[in-house]
Amino acid sequence: MPLSVADFDYIRKLVYDRTGVSLSEDKTYLVESRLGMLAKEAGASSVSGLVAQLKQKRFNPLYESIVEAMMTNETFFFRDVNPFEILKTSVIPELLKQRQGNRTLNIWCAACSSGQEPYSIAMLLREYFPQLVSWKVNLIASDISTGMLKRARLGRYGKQEIIRGLPPTFLHKYFYHCGKEWEIKADFRKSIEFRKINLTEPFGSIPQMDIIFMRNVLIYFDIQTKQSILARVRRVLQPDGYLFLGGGETTVNLDGAFEPVQFPQGVCYRMISSQTK
Ligand SMILES: C[S@@+](CC[C@H](N)C(=O)[O-])C[C@H]1O[C@@H](n2cnc3c(N)ncnc32)[C@H](O)[C@@H]1O
Repeated sequence: MPLSVADFDYIRKLVYDRTGVSLSEDKTYLVESRLGMLAKEAGASSVSGLVAQLKQKRFNPLYESIVEAMMTNETFFFRDVNPFEILKTSVIPELLKQRQGNRTLNIWCAACSSGQEPYSIAMLLREYFPQLVSWKVNLIASDISTGMLKRARLGRYGKQEIIRGLPPTFLHKYFYHCGKEWEIKADFRKSIEFRKINLTEPFGSIPQMDIIFMRNVLIYFDIQTKQSILARVRRVLQPDGYLFLGGGETTVNLDGAFEPVQFPQGVCYRMISSQTK
């Protein structure tokens, strides 16, 4: 049975209410393809049958599985290269000077998916900034998805994931070969604190951040949701801290408190007051 407009709207509202992610009207095929297996597992003959089951029971454990299935978790090591080059050549060297007093660096990788992004940051720090060993570096990585956080905490990746973006020298240095997979070395895994944070809700108790990576997630939200997330980012970003967004994302025309900062390799964002100091 094909998905009716009403059933599609039901799923769309469920995903929006729980995550802020807006599914456009042309995403019926996506709902059908992503939820088909779940429907079968729940004993329903179609996605419409699954929706009918959901409507019968208000607190249904299937809700979380549906929301997770509808998330786009695409990620890979050193994705887009340039943000990591900016970190390496400009942002970290500058913060090393500015934080010399308290020798503390707080970095938050929001919407980290299966962990490749925070592990890329951790490898970059270890590789190019060995002096940070004597600093207090808090690297927090978060996502809304319990399943993705489980994978990220495990730090185990298949061949296809490993060959996407990871320099071979890093593979041999920072991973163990583990059967057909590769696993991040334990001390590395422990250097990242993984937390479940829904960006559309209060962020909870996170320290003031020097660097926030919030990449390739704002694109899934409507304007109002982007604005409310950026307003909360302002409160947890140090006045001279840096915000990194994805290539298709910007603060421009969304939040006037931020200003793009142009580096040779690309753009990241800072609060305007920090530029005029
Ligand atoms: C495309 S991935 C981006 C991963 C990584 N930042 C990157 O750029 O490679 C988007 C991630 O955003 C997460 N996400 C979606 N809505 C969210 C929300 N409301 N709060 C936190 N994370 C969310 C998804 O679970 C998914 O893992």
